[in-house]
Amino acid sequence: ATIQWYPGHMAKARRQVTEALTKVDIIYEIVDARVPESSRNPLLDEIGQGKKRLLVLNKADLANPAATQGFIEYYQAQGLPAVAIDAQHTKGIQRIIAETHTVLADYIDRQKTKGVRNVLLRAMCVGVPNVGKSTILNRLAGRNIAQTGNTPGVTRAQQWIKTGEDISLLDTPGILWPKFEDPLVGKKLALTGGIKDTLFHADDVALFALETLVAQVPDEVKHLYRVTDADLQQDLPDLLMTMTARLGFKDDYDRTSWVIINDVRKGKLGRFTWDAVPQHA
Ligand code: G4P
Repeated sequence: ATIQWYPGHMAKARRQVTEALTKVDIIYEIVDARVPESSRNPLLDEIGQGKKRLLVLNKADLANPAATQGFIEYYQAQGLPAVAIDAQHTKGIQRIIAETHTVLADYIDRQKTKGVRNVLLRAMCVGVPNVGKSTILNRLAGRNIAQTGNTPGVTRAQQWIKTGEDISLLDTPGILWPKFEDPLVGKKLALTGGIKDTLFHADDVALFALETLVAQVPDEVKHLYRVTDADLQQDLPDLLMTMTARLGFKDDYDRTSWVIINDVRKGKLGRFTWDAVPQHA
């Protein structure tokens, strides 16, 4: 469940995350691989300046693999180390640990030169709601630490937890607000579960999804929502009404909209990435 953000929340989150960042050697910036750009908070570039960072494209199991690869190359080309993972599997968690050693290799060398025997790497997870911060944290810790659910900023007194051989992790993730100026970004976040369900109109979001679904997976659309090729020629709002009738929901197109949104969230129609891979050299 995500929360609604108010200016006070945002100021507090900014202050708390900024303060927590001073304690770590590396930031794990967690984003949703289905919307890697839309699920970033640009503030992190500012408050994380001068800190090493690893961008973690989580939920890669739900995203389009080619798009994920494109995004990874795009970020790497910008000098931002990035990995795509599925936090539900151990392999993904091991990738984070391995990448941490690569990103901090110079730091580790410097510490060793200074005579430090057991170099400890301090890390924290930061990101907008619902990208999988708590899941990753719990997996890294090997036990349940972070409550899934959300409050702005970094909520309670933090403790360090040991993960891997030499990584210490703050036990509370830094929670930043999602982007909300751009309506298209809003629809993408709503579709992928990043915005509280009461804060958007389901039909707006379902129609946004349908445009892509009809173009890319017409057979799945026909099968799941009992429509024909001829139906698919309709304007999207008319198509939504047709689906509503076929599903036996009378004129409750909101109900149909929620069915579509939930199917997309579960990956029932396939793996989609809703942000376009930015052009890069
Ligand atoms: P947050 O702390 O960033 O807010 O996110 P959280 O870990 O609570 O994860 C949000 C939802 O995303 C959870 O599902 C979680 O199980 C799911 N999730 C996290 N990582 C992955 C992943 O790599 N792949 C997939 N497919 N899902 C992931 P939920 O609906 O809140 O609960 P539940 O359905 O797991 O019970």
